[in-house]
Amino acid sequence: MKKVVLRSAVVACVTVAAVTGCYSDKGAGAKMSNGCEPSVVVKPFGKTKDGQLVQQYTLTGAGGVVMDVIDYGGKVVRLYTPDRTGAKTDITLGFNSVSGYETQDPYFGSLIGRYGNRIANGKFMLDGKTYTLPTNNSPGDLPCSLHGGNKGFDAYVWHSEPLSEGKSVGIKFTMTSPDGDQGYPGKLDVTVCYWLSPANVWRIEYEAVTDKATPVNLTQHLYFNFKGEAEGTILDHELTLFADQMTPVTKGLIPTGKIVPVKGTPFDFTTPWQIGARINADNEQLRFGGGYDHNWVLNNRSGKLAPAAALYEKTTGRYMEVWTTEPAIQFYCGNFLTDKVPSKKPGRNLCHRGGLALETQHSPDSPNQPDFPSTILRPGAVYKTVTEYRFGAK
Ligand code: BGC
Repeated sequence: MKKVVLRSAVVACVTVAAVTGCYSDKGAGAKMSNGCEPSVVVKPFGKTKDGQLVQQYTLTGAGGVVMDVIDYGGKVVRLYTPDRTGAKTDITLGFNSVSGYETQDPYFGSLIGRYGNRIANGKFMLDGKTYTLPTNNSPGDLPCSLHGGNKGFDAYVWHSEPLSEGKSVGIKFTMTSPDGDQGYPGKLDVTVCYWLSPANVWRIEYEAVTDKATPVNLTQHLYFNFKGEAEGTILDHELTLFADQMTPVTKGLIPTGKIVPVKGTPFDFTTPWQIGARINADNEQLRFGGGYDHNWVLNNRSGKLAPAAALYEKTTGRYMEVWTTEPAIQFYCGNFLTDKVPSKKPGRNLCHRGGLALETQHSPDSPNQPDFPSTILRPGAVYKTVTEYRFGAK
């Protein structure tokens, strides 16, 4: 295990287990105390099938949250947060090996780009020219380009370096997506920073610049299960979405272009609702999605950081707020997950709806939707968004 030299003197360059005892990888139920010494530790995670070395960073936050992140796709492999008694559990879905991610990955814990979610028919027109993208997905037998195409940003090994500032620790990821990558125009230089603060906030800062106009819609695809990875479904989690409107979809899960009020529908999460409470309602949108797999238009569209969602699980007391500068959020409740997907726990598999994702972003298919906020980045402009996942228990 390599010790990482951080820029700040505040953060000790130490191995996680040796520092404070606040992290021990004993699985669910291991105790986690507050007031850990923040640290970043790097060690090899494995190799891609084309032989690239993949590094794992363990971020230990001063507030006790611990995350294992790899430079392959910026994926969060494990995320330990305290429950209301202080016991920590890994609350995210992932794999223990690179090959797991390469062979059967539902984008677990990944950075998503160049375009988060779907673009209809893998085509869009920009400045009078039609661009064609790989169609790597086809819900309802309608082909589309999903999460950046055949090789999205989730499948890149990013350049990475540890960060520290005050009592916060982090990782800076950078990568260049070449002109024409997956059919998208322009060379795109992308920087994503993950920060873990003493207040148990995981802050993600996204930045990108291009040399030709191109759509950009970056997000993070972490799956949560507050009872723990492979500990059943998320149907009992209580969700709040700070969104009075959503974008209904076709059977291809492409927005129709309408923006409709959620009031009086199973899509109204403006007050906390158990995810399972209305999921089987007689509703065409729920049938198209096989459950919730939709985009909500957030009430805050100021571009300033504001609450987007809150999630609570009552047996563990785990609670999370999602804050973002983005105008929309995709809530996906793991409808495509099955018990064929292996868990990180030996001998166990996941299950249908075994995790949920809350992906802050612009709405799907925006390049083809004139009434949605634009996702086009032009040369000279800087794409900048921030999202925070704030962890707690009550
Ligand atoms: C989409 C789902 C898709 C999933 C892939 C989500 O963002 O909305 O439809 O299956 O990503 O893991």
